[in-house]
Amino acid sequence: MNEEMLVRAAKNFGTPLYIYDLKEIENRIHKVQKTLEGVEHRIFFAFKSNSNFHLLKRMRAFGCGADVVSMSEYKMAKSVGFTSDEMVINGNGKTEDELGIYLKDKVRYINVDSMEEVERFPKNLSARVAIRINPNVDAKTHPHISTGLRENKFGVDMKEASKLIHTLPANLKLVGLHCHIGSQITDVSPFIDTLNSLKLFIDKEDLKLEFLNIGGGWGVDYLHNGTELSTEKYREKIVPLLKKIGIPIHLELGRFIIGPAGYLVTKVLEIKHSSFKNFIAVDASMSTFLRPILYNAHHHIEFLSNGSKILVDVVGRVCESGDTFGKNREVKTPKVGDLGIIYDVGAYGYSMASNYNLSLRPAEVIFDGKDFKLIRRRETFDDLIRL
Ligand SMILES: Cc1ncc(COP(=O)(O)O)c(C=O)c1O
Repeated sequence: MNEEMLVRAAKNFGTPLYIYDLKEIENRIHKVQKTLEGVEHRIFFAFKSNSNFHLLKRMRAFGCGADVVSMSEYKMAKSVGFTSDEMVINGNGKTEDELGIYLKDKVRYINVDSMEEVERFPKNLSARVAIRINPNVDAKTHPHISTGLRENKFGVDMKEASKLIHTLPANLKLVGLHCHIGSQITDVSPFIDTLNSLKLFIDKEDLKLEFLNIGGGWGVDYLHNGTELSTEKYREKIVPLLKKIGIPIHLELGRFIIGPAGYLVTKVLEIKHSSFKNFIAVDASMSTFLRPILYNAHHHIEFLSNGSKILVDVVGRVCESGDTFGKNREVKTPKVGDLGIIYDVGAYGYSMASNYNLSLRPAEVIFDGKDFKLIRRRETFDDLIRL
């Protein structure tokens, strides 16, 4: 999407504004499919990365199933039109009531997170389950998005998994294994280690499974320097392993599909020169977009300006020093009122937005290659006091 389009969208819908490029989303789904060519597979879109109703509808139209982690995500999947058979249930701490609902509705399968969870399954209903394995593999990513180390709260280790398999109650049918080692993984080696140990486990236990769910985690190029997970390397190193395992593969991708397709357009409110630093304050904040403060995440930022280069911190207007989108960035000096673009915000962007400081959540629009369409209106003060 070019600058002119982004300016047009901001003019029509105001700022801050999330924009999603549909064509880019579709291209990225095709890229995943192409990478896995020759391996029977299915993509379940990770709702947590972006749960906009209209985008989820598109995901279904693009052929994705739903990876859901909460009762609200489940209800959202249903209202979007996903059938029970298109849903995979994830997450830890599932309650007895929730499990009852999933089982009654006959979801495709549930990824069991612990021994304790098995005891909460209703005894009078049957279910298809996969066991979430924690392989104790370092995903070499930010600690808060690493999920496959034994100190992380998710899944069970191989020993516990083995015990679970041999003690599963008769109403639970083991149909697969699940493993998600973390997010924003840009190197194939953690995937290789994981698949090797899963293959050993499957062979040792002599499991006859319908599928292996290998989670999500494919990393994107936040730094804009070519550091995205290489799909060529994935094809070269991982696909042969998947073929060797020889059963259908399920993926739960979020970030890779929608991250780079999202743009956050924001307006410059103030350019402040202190004796120590320059700050550009914009109308987005950590309430609009949390990743920088939550994960110390780097996102590329540009200002639509012809000014000379200046070294700045780009900050929001929430009362937190951490409310900073980028420190010591060299950008083109903008004027008050100019637009700034924060890139690659399609995943874990709006879905993590909040009302902190009573900020109003922004609007979201999609771009279909020709036109913009509003897919969530901007919040108003009335929305805040309605509850
Ligand atoms: C179990 C599980 N599956 C899939 C995902 C999606 O990961 P990503 O957006 O990195 O593809 C996550 C994200 O944390 C997850 O926890």
